[in-house]
Amino acid sequence: MATSILQIENLNKYFGKRQILHDISFETYAGEVFGFLGPNGAGKTTTIKIAVGLLSLDEGDIKINGISIKKDFEGAIAHVGGIVENPELYKHMSGMQNLKQYARMRNGIDQKRIDEVVELVGLKNRINDRVGKYSLGMRQRLGVAQALLHHPKLLILDEPTNGLDPAGIKGLRDILKNLAHEENISVLVSSHLMSEMELMCDRVGIITNGKLIGVKTVEELISSVAGDMLTYKIKVDNSEKAIALMDNVSDENKKIIDETHIEIIVGKEMVDEIVSGIAYKLVTNGVRLSMLCPSENRKLEDAFMEITKNGGGQIA
Ligand SMILES: Nc1ncnc2c1ncn2[C@@H]1O[C@H](COP(=O)(O)OP(=O)(O)O)[C@@H](O)[C@H]1O
Ligand SMILES: [Mg+2]
Repeated sequence: MATSILQIENLNKYFGKRQILHDISFETYAGEVFGFLGPNGAGKTTTIKIAVGLLSLDEGDIKINGISIKKDFEGAIAHVGGIVENPELYKHMSGMQNLKQYARMRNGIDQKRIDEVVELVGLKNRINDRVGKYSLGMRQRLGVAQALLHHPKLLILDEPTNGLDPAGIKGLRDILKNLAHEENISVLVSSHLMSEMELMCDRVGIITNGKLIGVKTVEELISSVAGDMLTYKIKVDNSEKAIALMDNVSDENKKIIDETHIEIIVGKEMVDEIVSGIAYKLVTNGVRLSMLCPSENRKLEDAFMEITKNGGGQIA
């Protein structure tokens, strides 16, 4: 059974008279990366600031490791490590000096723990360099190391991949997955990009206009926005000839992109049969087939935008 670490219960927040969060409830478990996904202005940062103790809540409650922040704020917050804005780092000091400095302000963090977190975020060979020389990705990783020093059960990062290059994003993604899956930490990350959440998270909660419209596993999320159809890209030496041979795909589900590229849409449950059928037909009829692969699903991002744009209802 998964252990519940963060429980957000019927959270409401107002800025002045304006209600920013409407009855938000969800929980995150030990050992998972939970993605908090929604467009800009949806309320992600506000929710996260409340969960890390930077903002107060108006109604509802948040429990961390079973402790209510309303009843025992210090006790609850002690289990959280977080980066909401950029991590506070001293540029003229090395990564190690930064961690030591931070450790001095907290109780019970020894050198062994510092070395452990450095290892966890993969900064071992650069830890004695000045932070001023770090890439953004390395600074972000040092921030994660700092947030982990006190053994939090819950790690919260607000849009941690913003501004990172693809290598930096992958590096951070691998670290966060490792922290969840190997160290059994509950990791909560926010993002406005579905494509990113898809790769990083085990479950995703979607927020728009201050309302949580669904919590799903990544697989459920993908099929709920993509439906049951898959798109395949096919490269051949002669599109016209090839498409005419694809008599097992209906006309509306196949189209010529250019002289050598075709796109087809196939139902998930039939995909093996149809795709292998096409390959066989093409090759045995003298068409040169050089690529047949599921296409990178950009449509997914579009479908997600569609769902969140109109602030609309529950997702299927
Ligand atoms: N301090 C504040 N005062 C008033 N409104 C705010 C404040 N902070 C955020 N908001 C508003 O709350 C809404 C949610 O913002 P935010 O939580 O930052 O969204 P997200 O992080 O999902 O982009 C936005 O409409 C934003 O303008
Ligand atoms: Mg934000």
